[in-house]
Amino acid sequence: MAGDKKRLNQFGDYEDTAHMSVDDWKYRWDKQQTQFHMPIIHPMLQKHLETLAQGRSKLRFFVPLCGKSLDLKWLLEQGHEVIGCEGVDKGCQEFFQEHKMQYTTCPMKSCEGTVYQAKCCPLTIYRCDFFELKSDDVGQFDCIWDRGSFVAIPVTDRKRYVDVIVPLMKSDCRYLLDCFLVNNDQFGGPPFNCTDKDVSTFYGSYCTVKKIDEKDAFTEWQKSWGISYFVEEIYMIELK
Ligand SMILES: C[S@@+](CC[C@H](N)C(=O)[O-])C[C@H]1O[C@@H](n2cnc3c(N)ncnc32)[C@H](O)[C@@H]1O
Repeated sequence: MAGDKKRLNQFGDYEDTAHMSVDDWKYRWDKQQTQFHMPIIHPMLQKHLETLAQGRSKLRFFVPLCGKSLDLKWLLEQGHEVIGCEGVDKGCQEFFQEHKMQYTTCPMKSCEGTVYQAKCCPLTIYRCDFFELKSDDVGQFDCIWDRGSFVAIPVTDRKRYVDVIVPLMKSDCRYLLDCFLVNNDQFGGPPFNCTDKDVSTFYGSYCTVKKIDEKDAFTEWQKSWGISYFVEEIYMIELK
């Protein structure tokens, strides 16, 4: 990145992108700066669900840094059990309110956090710092859908992120990772640029990594960030 030059983020202001915490995201949720939330099911999840599921049903799906993504509900409707992790209560609560789902809450066992459990269906959202999450709390997963998650955390936390998520994979887990190519010299992020090399560097010791799709994802929204390209790349990750 270019020296100490301050670069605008997607919220139109500045962020200490090397030290972003859950509190920084809480500030965004409180100000309703949640433009990252998509009003549709993610097209790449729909397109590649079968590659993830491979004909299997009633899978355990993990959605890290889930926000209030509509993908949670869609995966439930496909008959799967869905477990999310989100650091901000408001994100969890808005999900349940917007889908008119009743829920219970209880404290997490192994770290500060709250378990939001839907009453109607097999959906649980762990409200905690992702970096505190352990398989003791959440178990292991058949599938992972990672959108706006690995690319949302500071680049300096990527190794920590992988150290948390890899132990949550069952031996035959399939993990769909949605990344972006973005020029963080022009734009502060998040999201943060993630190349083939980055994915291999961080996941490659434990996993096979295969790029399965890519798309020019440059829209008026990204144009407003002052950048000139924005490419979405999709990886399938499996344990070696
Ligand atoms: C870019 S948004 C993406 C949300 C969601 N994946 C989606 O597609 O709409 C990143 C989300 O991660 C949450 N988050 C950021 N850092 C976190 C952390 N360390 N632990 C848990 N959640 C975190 C934020 O509150 C925010 O909702």
